[in-house]
Amino acid sequence: MCGIVGYIGKRDVAPLLLEGLQRLEYRGYDSAGIVVTSPKTAGLKMVKAKGRVRDLEAKVPARFKGTVGIAHTRWATHGAPSDENAHPHMDAEGKVAVVHNGIIDNASELRAKLTADGVEFLSETDTEVVTHLIARSQAEKLEDKVRDALRLIEGTYGIAVLHADFSDRIVVARNGSPVVLGIGEKEMFVASDVAALVAHTRQIVTLDDGEMATLKADDFRTYTTEGTRTTASPTTVEWEAESYDMGGHDTYMHKEIHEQVDAVDRVLRGRIDDRFSTVHLGGLNLDAREARAVRRVKILGCGTSYHAGMIGAQMIEELARIPADAEPASEFRYRNAVVDPDTLYIAVSQSGETYDVLAAVQELKRKGARVLGVVNVVGSAIAREADGGMYVHAGPEVCVVSTKCFTNTTVAFALLALHLGRTRDLSVSDGKRIIAGLRKLPAQIAEILEQEDEIKKLADEYADAKSMLFIGRVRGYPVAREASLKLKEVSYIHAEAYPASELKHGPLALIEPALPTVAIVPDDDLLEKNRAALEEIKARSGRILAVAHQEQEKADRTIVVPKNEDELDPILMGIPLQLLAYHTALALGRDIDKPRNLAKSVTVE
Ligand code: M6R
Repeated sequence: MCGIVGYIGKRDVAPLLLEGLQRLEYRGYDSAGIVVTSPKTAGLKMVKAKGRVRDLEAKVPARFKGTVGIAHTRWATHGAPSDENAHPHMDAEGKVAVVHNGIIDNASELRAKLTADGVEFLSETDTEVVTHLIARSQAEKLEDKVRDALRLIEGTYGIAVLHADFSDRIVVARNGSPVVLGIGEKEMFVASDVAALVAHTRQIVTLDDGEMATLKADDFRTYTTEGTRTTASPTTVEWEAESYDMGGHDTYMHKEIHEQVDAVDRVLRGRIDDRFSTVHLGGLNLDAREARAVRRVKILGCGTSYHAGMIGAQMIEELARIPADAEPASEFRYRNAVVDPDTLYIAVSQSGETYDVLAAVQELKRKGARVLGVVNVVGSAIAREADGGMYVHAGPEVCVVSTKCFTNTTVAFALLALHLGRTRDLSVSDGKRIIAGLRKLPAQIAEILEQEDEIKKLADEYADAKSMLFIGRVRGYPVAREASLKLKEVSYIHAEAYPASELKHGPLALIEPALPTVAIVPDDDLLEKNRAALEEIKARSGRILAVAHQEQEKADRTIVVPKNEDELDPILMGIPLQLLAYHTALALGRDIDKPRNLAKSVTVE
């Protein structure tokens, strides 16, 4: 969703900020804007445009010079996408400019008060109240003006502020929406996402909630919103600028599907302990005694991460014999769930920013629960809020549609399940068996990806479907759910996932030649049951595409995937269906990396 980028230094700021905005495009947005100044020239210069960053770029005049600036990509919440509603927002005198991610909850109330005081609003946004509050503060220093405004605001924000009278600095603040400082050589950057920074610096400082910072060209300082100095030690981002490039692929989705061999290798690296047939997960902050005390596991996530969590819950039940289930964080946080001290809560998120997941974590922690994070983005809000956890090391995922991160998250859960299992009753030989299975994964993924040409042909064959049904039983069900989500979000074909065991209880009524069924048919103890479901569909003239470990007689087509250990099969079975979704979308000419109406990180409710 919204993105912030800012710079202060000696370089011409506009091209730098526009490039930064381009790096944030993947998050999803509908308008963009930029404001620049410099310590030598008084006044702020601003350009805003509805549409893409290239539309903004086209509007930026040749003499739009400055060495200090902030810029923004906006995802509309208050007010439609338009030039006026795009950020930055300025006060009437043109002295203060603000860019903001998040939502100001008491914006209407503040707006009414300011309007009654004679302030004229130029946009419908919640952000504009922040600008006017800063402009009206009587404090002398910019930091104090911003602080005065923040005292009146309720809600979430990551903000960056420029002031024409203080053009030697950018002031930023964070509460619930990421703000990352980038430390350069006599230049400083700020962004809401490291993606906008890594081309220039990999030395970063991530602000905490309730923290502010002042950036000058050769210096920065951080402090709380109350003014107390905080210590900020820069850390090095492990992701390189090239990781954000397309690397010869036509889309990020294609690149990221193909990166899974290396990505899975990475999540395993350094974690396997052959001596004790277990894994090392130091970041969990959970010793063996505490692990043994866990009576139940509850996994929370949204979208694809929730599906990965469903697979994780099954693995934990199977390998550790701890009752486990997954639930959409977006539902959990609103149902006043019973929070049990013996339950281990696990928040799953690629971005580590998803608002519903973060809110669920905060609610759980408020009630004293222990929460682990299974997260991709290092230092993200959920990773910082959790009591411990593990990174899934998928590398940056740029395509809005999650692929490699799903796979890596399921592998991370396999590691966690093995770890919990080996602190309990999972035998050494079963530990060895799972470790051997895990080690096979990268080569098996490569084997699946080699089938891409065949899968492309299948996609061409099915691309005219108006709707598709995905079915799976027990281990196959979350795979079916994820595959159905992949197809619908990237190709816009309606898709529905059902447990294969539920067919007779309703969905069988839908079966006809025009509704293809994709069936997940692992070679496990439920194989015969799954075959019976295929029979039922075939008997009603349904078309079937099976994903299985061997050709399925009743299916019209079968994608054969390599067999692993039963518990690990779900990790592999979704991968050919990522390719199916990709090639279907390609055949239909969809905007693959940025499907309509979707954002990469859903940082608002
Ligand atoms: O960053 P997160 O994993 O928390 O994101 C959760 C969902 O918004 C995300 O998985 C979404 O469903 C993707 N578009 C799936 O491809």
